[in-house]
Amino acid sequence: MKQAARQARAENHLIGLVPTMGALHEGHLSLIRRARSECSKVFASIFVNPAQFGANEDLSRYPRPFEADVSKLENAGVDVLFAPEAAEIYPPGFQTYVTVEGMNERLEGRSRPGHFRGVTTVVAKLFEIVQPHYAFFGRKDAQQASILRRMLEDLNSDVELVLCPTVREPDGLARSSRNAYLSSEERGAATVLYASLAAARREIASGTRDALTIENAAAAVLREEKLARVDYVQLADADDFEPVARIGARPAYLLLAVFIGKIRLIDNMLIEADPVSGHPACAL
Ligand code: PAJ
Repeated sequence: MKQAARQARAENHLIGLVPTMGALHEGHLSLIRRARSECSKVFASIFVNPAQFGANEDLSRYPRPFEADVSKLENAGVDVLFAPEAAEIYPPGFQTYVTVEGMNERLEGRSRPGHFRGVTTVVAKLFEIVQPHYAFFGRKDAQQASILRRMLEDLNSDVELVLCPTVREPDGLARSSRNAYLSSEERGAATVLYASLAAARREIASGTRDALTIENAAAAVLREEKLARVDYVQLADADDFEPVARIGARPAYLLLAVFIGKIRLIDNMLIEADPVSGHPACAL
């Protein structure tokens, strides 16, 4: 893999990398297409990274439809696929981890201890191996992207992170490999995440700026769904993920983590001040 990356650099290609864990859906493919439009060589990785799964999480049953993934990548125009074995990434004797402190203890980090340490470690290694100019990530995993941005900044990295919008099903449910685990009843109930963000967006459009009032508007919708159990509903600064008390000039996310039955789903809405009017604009 290093050889393919070295050759691409020697040929002066603009190299884009899209890291994934496979089980590819339209969300992943939107990142590939974006990379394809901005880079001359597109690398994608498929690696179900054991270091980012907790002991009681779904590592062993995480879907691995490798052949289908390969043809999706070919159709989307990926030039090079990197699909290492675990022993290639974590050989015997491995003991170096990359940790972004502070930010990785909040929200997703608090609910999934060790998760972000696994993510930052594997992404740092992928960046070392491929040395891309650009790396493409989804806003669906907003905290992951902000932590990776922090890592790049803190490590003086030249890799530029490109954040891409969340791809959704027609009924609003964010695309996720985990949606496949939902029963048909749960799949119906899962639309409550989008409904709850939409309710918060209406609250903001009506003039509310207070975080608690906005969070409560979202939580009230989630409570109406019997199959849903809220892990968190939180308004947080988009850069450092500290809770915010009021929407202001700085971009913020309204972040949700909700169990639908046994399946934990996340979603978010970006809230940014419109550069012209100064009013908050919400992106779902
Ligand atoms: P994975 O869950 O496979 O996601 C790979 C990339 O696809 C991430 O950047 C994620 O944010 C993006 N993505 C997922 N669903 C999306 C959607 N509905 N719309 C847009 N983008 C979406 O995230 C990981 O893998 C891993 O943590 C990884 C970064 C590969 C490190 O192991």
